[in-house]
Amino acid sequence: MAGRIILIIGGGIAAYKALELIRLLRKRDVAVECVLTDSATHFVTPLSVQALSGAPVHTTLLSLAEDSQMDHIALSRSADLLVVCPATANLMARMANGLADDLATTLLLATDTPVLIAPAMNVRMWKHPATQENYRRLRERGCDFVGPEDGEMACGEFGPGRLSAPETIVEAIESALSPHKPLTGRHVLITAGPTHEPIDPVRFIANHSSGKQGYAIAEACAALGAQVTLVSGPTALPCPKGVTLVPVLTASDMMAACEKALPADCVICAAAVGDWRVAQSSEQKRKKQPGETVSLALVENPDILATLSRPGPHRASLVIGFAAETESLEQHAKAKLARKGCDWLLANDVGGESAVFGGDRNRILFLNGETVETWPDMPKAEVASLLATRLAAHFSSTSR
Ligand code: CTP
Repeated sequence: MAGRIILIIGGGIAAYKALELIRLLRKRDVAVECVLTDSATHFVTPLSVQALSGAPVHTTLLSLAEDSQMDHIALSRSADLLVVCPATANLMARMANGLADDLATTLLLATDTPVLIAPAMNVRMWKHPATQENYRRLRERGCDFVGPEDGEMACGEFGPGRLSAPETIVEAIESALSPHKPLTGRHVLITAGPTHEPIDPVRFIANHSSGKQGYAIAEACAALGAQVTLVSGPTALPCPKGVTLVPVLTASDMMAACEKALPADCVICAAAVGDWRVAQSSEQKRKKQPGETVSLALVENPDILATLSRPGPHRASLVIGFAAETESLEQHAKAKLARKGCDWLLANDVGGESAVFGGDRNRILFLNGETVETWPDMPKAEVASLLATRLAAHFSSTSR
């Protein structure tokens, strides 16, 4: 791996691990130029950092001007990647709010170079809604993250907040410097979110789907180089990086948008499509009559997954469905795979305490028509990257 990175070292106890990171990167021929925040200098000395990196170390805007020919704008753009390690809660907050009150944050604000962040902090600080909000904002702006990991902390507490191992950070740097894009040239069509079936102009029938799993899959496929069309019902989520979003409301709109987006190499139906729509939705707001019992006649909606699974000239070579079940997961999932005619199915238990709807984690039973695999409980983002990796393996074993 070759390349040039700027390593911004934040002021936390984990800063000493940045020294090992520099050593590992230098062994791999990566040029590393370091910037220390003021508080980082209390944990590691500029002298050790300079000795290991073999390059000038910068701590203040003034030191930069004295040590090198570059100004902060030029320095921020001189690298292939900016790595923030360790990123403390305070440094993440300053980044998320666009502050530029020292050299590190000024560089981060002045750059359009990709940024990789390795957070490290106390578990409560990591879980605090303010930090979680900053994390979400930085991700939405395109920053990549490695960690934090679960584990015992220097403060004696246990949980998420630990800096990833230097080897893991090197791997993340490696893939950021030379991204592996095995889905390049593939079109992946994904449905996500709920549908809204109108009763009248102000009321509708919907469900609890947040769209998080479908959006995470879209992001993971785009990260592997796929051209991704995301046909989504109403959600509160931002469009993932590099994805074409087609917003829809009803199941019929979703069906039409999917057909318009074809052909695709792969279709993934992650939407919680309303099974029925109101036979005659009213054009004006329905007025209630005192004591009236209202019944709504419902008619069946198109089954998007079953339709797109049907053999035909435009059938994608891989069609994947989800199954939301509340009981007899494996039995219902096998029956659904056969009934829909798709190739793979990811089944999840959405009943009782599972908190899959709206939550950030998922536990999957994966069926590929031959075997049934249980994927352990994991974040939806990890389910998404596992699935994207499976797609890549599938397409690398089939010729175009
Ligand atoms: N699906 C679809 N169009 C529909 C209904 C479902 O594309 N009208 C897709 C979903 O996106 C999912 C799969 O079919 O990939 C299974 O959805 P699920 O809600 O679990 O099952 P249903 O088909 O609705 O069957 P049932 O409600 O009987 O479980």
